[in-house]
Amino acid sequence: MSNTIFRSLITWLLVAGPFWGRLCAQMYRPSAAVEDRVTALLDKMSLEEKIGQLTLYTTDWGSTGPTIREGYKNDIRSGACGNLFNSHTVSFVRELQRIAVEETRLKIPLLFGFDVIHGYKTIFPIPLGESASWDLEAIERSARVAATEATAAGLNWTFAPMVDVCRDPRWGRVMEGAGEDTYLGCRIAEARTRGFQGKKLGDTDAMLACVKHFAAYGAPIAGRDYNSVDMSERYFREYYLPPYEAAIRAGAATVMTSFNDYDGVPATGNKYLLTDILRKEWGFKGFVVTDYTSINEMVNHGVVADEKAAGELAMNAGVDMDMQGAVYQRFMLQSYKDGKIAMPLINDAVRRVLRLKIELGLFEDPYKYCDETREKNSLLSAEHRAAARDVSRKSIVLLKNEGGILPLKKTQKIALIGPLADNKSELIGNWNGAGNANDCVSVLEGLRAKAPAEITTEAGSDFMAEKSDGLANALALAEKADVVVAVVGETAMMSGEACARGEIGLPAAQEALVMALIKTGKPVVVVLMNGRPLAFPAIAESAGAIVESWWLGTEAGNAIADVLFGDYNPSGKLPMSFPRSVGQVPVFYNEKSTGRPFDPNSKWTSKYIDMPNSPQWPFGFGLSYTTFSISEPKPEKTTFKKGEPLKVSVTVSNTGARDGEEVVQLYVHDLVGSVTRPVKELKGFQKVMLKAGESRTLQFTLTEKDLSFYRRDMSFGTEPGDFEIMAGGNSADLKKVRVTMTE
Ligand code: BGC
Repeated sequence: MSNTIFRSLITWLLVAGPFWGRLCAQMYRPSAAVEDRVTALLDKMSLEEKIGQLTLYTTDWGSTGPTIREGYKNDIRSGACGNLFNSHTVSFVRELQRIAVEETRLKIPLLFGFDVIHGYKTIFPIPLGESASWDLEAIERSARVAATEATAAGLNWTFAPMVDVCRDPRWGRVMEGAGEDTYLGCRIAEARTRGFQGKKLGDTDAMLACVKHFAAYGAPIAGRDYNSVDMSERYFREYYLPPYEAAIRAGAATVMTSFNDYDGVPATGNKYLLTDILRKEWGFKGFVVTDYTSINEMVNHGVVADEKAAGELAMNAGVDMDMQGAVYQRFMLQSYKDGKIAMPLINDAVRRVLRLKIELGLFEDPYKYCDETREKNSLLSAEHRAAARDVSRKSIVLLKNEGGILPLKKTQKIALIGPLADNKSELIGNWNGAGNANDCVSVLEGLRAKAPAEITTEAGSDFMAEKSDGLANALALAEKADVVVAVVGETAMMSGEACARGEIGLPAAQEALVMALIKTGKPVVVVLMNGRPLAFPAIAESAGAIVESWWLGTEAGNAIADVLFGDYNPSGKLPMSFPRSVGQVPVFYNEKSTGRPFDPNSKWTSKYIDMPNSPQWPFGFGLSYTTFSISEPKPEKTTFKKGEPLKVSVTVSNTGARDGEEVVQLYVHDLVGSVTRPVKELKGFQKVMLKAGESRTLQFTLTEKDLSFYRRDMSFGTEPGDFEIMAGGNSADLKKVRVTMTE
């Protein structure tokens, strides 16, 4: 080994060793004690029984795609189906588990999966909304509550967290992730994974997490769900891949493949993704499940001629479990006889599934998640609702507040208008688990609970169409009020899976309603509910106040009332840029430097001729009822050595008259690289509560990893030279300082 290589290795071990060591320690690792039990069981299994363990079927309680296989109860009995999803509640799970452990030859218990995305019965904000809290503890608690309730209702596996980075609000599933940024996405992926899996697998309130959708599902061309993904390896590794890795390093025990292709190969048959990256590079030891019938769909992708070949491609690529496609069940035996799938591969896949069933403790007690008393006490408990209210109000983003319209005063007469003003059905949003809309607090109820002087209400319009007399009645109420609160937006089912939109404005009838209310000259507060960034330039320009509230779930109305009346000072920050128009999409803060950066005085630079480059509201943006000032970042030294961490301090002051929280954001720009670098990249943030007039100095540490990227030769590391370090309260409004990294 040459001296230089030896020295770099030592430096790497010193600097990165403890860092990776800490992270690796949390990664899911099967315990040695489990191995003998797995082997003993495997030795007894027929090939058919092995295939059963690699098979996952939905029950008749729900589905998110075609049901290819009926009669799942008989399949459990025969050992042909070893895992189920969409069955929950103690009574139903008990009934099905009983078949597995009493009526099958080997008595192997079932896994019970479900999309517990933002709550089971107590529904929390949709993940995009919750990400706006930038509060990792609250996000982890939300996943913890979801797991506590879900495991009390029989479940042991959630198909979450969804960590797909997305820069295109046309894509409906943007509601399910953490938005446009890789760094924020990684931190949230870790928090959610920890929350779902709890202290350790095997605890009765811990469930298996499933990081999805591997990989790059959030970048379908034109934002259309299930469409192809095509991007460079560099882009993929830099922006899209890290959150999956972060979730896995935080312990996620399972991974779900995505529907899309990557570099021409569907993810479900992509050996590069499932074996080379996932298992070899990252050392992932859990199991891989497909998305819903995604093996079968490889025939439509046109990479195999029939389903049997699709199964062979999937298995050889690294897929362990077939969700709902029945491909393994129907064809794997023959594929094995034809020599297309080798027995060691099948055994490895079965081992991965059995290990986790053992780690969960299902063999000791297959009914460990089936306790009626726990189910009754846990679901919608006061404590869970309080946690939901807490993170819900933290997720609200104040986008505009001219002339201090907000907070409202109890003495004001309020006209509460809009199809979402007195609505419960939409508040739980999409992917709402076992949530019940009737358990939600509506905005009207939330406001009334604050006992304002007077509150009148009228829908004014339906979601998509005008309502007869609606507008006239709404205007009449507005005339008599001191302030108008208009609660408008999408229906919950306008975002989520298979809900791409080509236009991302407010539905026309609601836009017309809001504009008419604004024309009355009364102060208008627009409260938005939606699952994606929307573009509504006229309202953005003319409304007095705008409050982004996403879909907040069970406690929506209380959380919104807390913010509108100032009982909670808003602190949310956008996890995704809000475009001025769909024509700007994708618009995101960390774009690459170009050869012709925007210059207002030169025609020949990168820009539109009909609108600004900048979004309506940038990533990281959000107002408060107080004001903050954030200092220039102060590095510990302006010159530092490659490999050394760099400490940076930032002082934040509450310059207003109210206590409040600010999210101080730290960004980096590598000024010269062997490949083009983003103009800025988030590398740290801290959310702090400051009393009116209080200042605090925050410490950040930029590690070597924070300053690393995929260099010209695709090796990951730093390049000495100049960097700008920037700090501020959103991605567009930053103070910067220059530092130099030396060899
Ligand atoms: C979705 C997955 C989900 C699965 C099971 C699919 O359609 O893409 O995210 O986990 O259905 O419900």
